[in-house]
Order: sequence, then structure tokens, then C-alpha cells
Amino acid sequence: MNILLLGSGGREHALAWKLAQSPACDTLWAAPGNPGISEVATCIALDATDHAAVIAFCEANVVGLVVIGPEAPLVDGLADSLRAEGFAVFGPGKAAAQLEGSKGFTKDLCERAGIPTAGYVRVTDEAAARAALAQFGAPVVIKADGLAAGKGVTVAMTMAEAEAAVADIFAGRFGEAGAEAVIEEFMEGEEASFFALTDGSTIVPFASAQDHKRVGEGDTGPNTGGMGAYSPAPVLTPALEVEVLERIIAPTVRQLEDDGTPYSGVLFLGVMLTREGPKLIEYNCRFGDPECQVMMLRLESDLVELLHACAENRLAAIEAPKFSQDTALTVVMAAKGYPDTPEKGGAIGGLAEAEADGAKVFHAGTALKDGALVASGGRVLNVTARGGSVREAQARAYAALDRIDFPTGFCRRDIGWREVARETSKES
Ligand code: AMP
Ligand code: GLY
Repeated sequence: MNILLLGSGGREHALAWKLAQSPACDTLWAAPGNPGISEVATCIALDATDHAAVIAFCEANVVGLVVIGPEAPLVDGLADSLRAEGFAVFGPGKAAAQLEGSKGFTKDLCERAGIPTAGYVRVTDEAAARAALAQFGAPVVIKADGLAAGKGVTVAMTMAEAEAAVADIFAGRFGEAGAEAVIEEFMEGEEASFFALTDGSTIVPFASAQDHKRVGEGDTGPNTGGMGAYSPAPVLTPALEVEVLERIIAPTVRQLEDDGTPYSGVLFLGVMLTREGPKLIEYNCRFGDPECQVMMLRLESDLVELLHACAENRLAAIEAPKFSQDTALTVVMAAKGYPDTPEKGGAIGGLAEAEADGAKVFHAGTALKDGALVASGGRVLNVTARGGSVREAQARAYAALDRIDFPTGFCRRDIGWREVARETSKES
């Protein structure tokens, strides 16, 4: 089967790497892809916002499965356009992708379905937002309603911060995404991510992971798209996973099915493990980046089979995904200045040396310039390794990373720290 993968980041490199290993994969196309992806796929220029062009490409190249990596084309309804022409697509249609595309949509759905999450108020102007802030008091969370590349959320510890965030949103900082906002109760606890595949009715648990969203060590500094991750996340115990499935995921899938907009694809949820139990922080309608990288390193099942079954509503008929018991851990190397103004064009070397002992380096924001590899984005490389514990995977990932020559890059040195601390305290 010919497969078209859309996207260009580390998530898509990990997906391409795994898709290409499947005996069911004939030609793998990636649009636009990146230099890492081009090692396992044929990269092509294709504008994902031009639905007719994507359809024409799929027709001309007898594409049997389209895998949509990032959220923007999903929220934009590309999956619907392709399905209308009879193509099998991995990823939700526009209506169900609102789970990520509109924070307010998700909060309303949680309320209707009785799903545990933070209390909230939807607001469309600054006066209403200020009234909501007064109602909750600090700390409080302010979210632009729409897609804002992970930058639309402020966790305000003081009223002054909260008011500044509200002013920012309604001054148009996030454009369309900030025409509306959600003011939320602050939840306290440790965060974890969980992934499940669903074809609209059947739900198949996939894996857990823990991301590191802040740019600085010890979880300090501004939010980013994610500076590193590991999977599985033992903090999400089997009992908590069952609770997440039964109290959050299942009612969400049922509600969307009842609404006539079934969700097909991967559901990615951020949960806060609060004293009252797990509560939903947010949904995303695609794999996490960099969570996908660690899950793909652990996945032992055929990814083409899983995603194709999901796209064709056949999840109930296939075997559940199998994962290695190992931990996989990835460290993001970002360009200096990220997340604000990453320095572009810095030279990158030493990738073969980094992979010499079994680590895998996924490309996130790289480009070829006159035949040499350079940084072209904020997050540049994902140095990923496996081990029998988080500490072992961490040691291997950093050993590999230290062989990379990327003078204009930086990374956090503490990815996995919460779990490493727990492993250490268990041993003593
Ligand atoms: P989101 O984009 O909704 O995942 O929010 C980004 C980050 O903000 C999350 O990963 C949390 O760390 C934090 N956050 C979001 N909502 C809340 C909340 N209600 N209480 C505490 N922290 C939150
Ligand atoms: N790493 C978080 C995300 O993909 O949204």
C-alpha cells in the first residue's frame, strides 16, 4: 500500500521511521517531510491547506492511507475532504478535531458528559474575563480558545499576571485563536499524557508518556512545545489508566458518537493527577511531539496495520498494540533563543556517532543547505534511547546527545527527573 504522511517535525520523522518498517508499506510519501524523513520516505512539496491538490496527489499515486501528523490540517477539515473522495485517513474530521481546535468546545463537552476537569467560564470580551478572574481568584488559568501553537495558555499565580494575560488575548495577540477565551480553575498535581486510538466506537489504549513543557531545568521558564519526554509514565498506574479510560476517554468518544461527529484517530489527553483523582487538562487530536518519538521507539506492533484499521473502522478486529517493557526517553535539542526567537542556520554534525550505540536521532527542525545539515526551526533534534529504567534510558540518551556537534543548540539536562527521583528513592 502507498502511504502519504503529512507533516515535517520530529513526530512525523518517528511516524515515518515506523511506517516504513511495515511489510504493508510500499511507497511512503511525506509532505513536506524533512532531511531525516527523506532517509525513509520520498519527500514532496504539497500544500496541506490546498485540499484539491492533496486529493489529486492521492489519486495520481494510488495512495491507500493518508496519515495526518499535525493538528492544523485536522482542524481545517482535510480528513473530511479526503474521506469524501473515498480515501482512508488516519485523523479526525473537522467537527471532532474541535477537541483540540477549541478549548471551550472541549469544556462544554466535558460538562455535558460529566467528565472530571477544571471548573471554567467561556468569555468573549475583557470585561467578562475580568469578572471570571474575580470569581476564581489566583492562581487561575487563562486560555485562548483556538490553536495557538502551545502558547495560548497562562497559568497565572497572581491577579496581576492573570489580568495581563487577559489583556494580551483580547488585544489580539493570538489573532483569531483569541477572539474567545476560557478562564479555568487552577488544578494541582503531577501531569501525565495518555494516548488511545479510536475509530469512533472501539477504543484501544495506546501508551502513556510524560512531557517536559517548560524550557528550563526543574520545570522553569516559559512553556514550549515540549523539551523531552519518556514513555511509559509509571505515575499513571494501571489503576489510574483504567480510571482515565472509563471516566474521561470512553464518555468523550460516546458523546461525540451521539452528537453524530464520531472521533477517528488518536486521542491525546493531558491529565492532572489531583488529590480527587485524574482530571482532564486538555485534548489534542494527534500524536504528541515529542511523546510520539518515545512511543514509536517502544512500539512492537505494525504501525501501518494499526493506523489503517483505525481509518477503516476495524479496530475491534485487530490485535491490541504491543510495546516493549523498556522505557524510551527523548531529549529535545533546540536552537538557542527557543521558544521566542530561535537562531536558524546553525551547523549540525555527529549524528552517525550519536546513533552508534543504538540511540535514534529524529529530525524536528533541520534543513539541508548546500548539502550540509543545519537548524531550521525551534526544536531541531530529538535524541531518543531505550533502557530498562528511566535512569538507564536517560543516561543513554544524554551519552548519544553529547556526541552531537550543534554549537547553536541547547537542551535540558534533566529530562525524566521526576521518575529518576522516584526510582532512586525506591532503591534506597
Ligand atoms: P494546555 O495547552 O491546555 O495543555 O495547557 C498548557 C499547560 O498549562 C498544561 O500542560 C499545564 O501545565 C498547564 N495547565 C493547563 N490548564 C491547567 C489548569 N486548569 N490547572 C493547572 N495547570 C494547567
Ligand atoms: N508535547 C505536547 C504536544 O505535542 O502538544
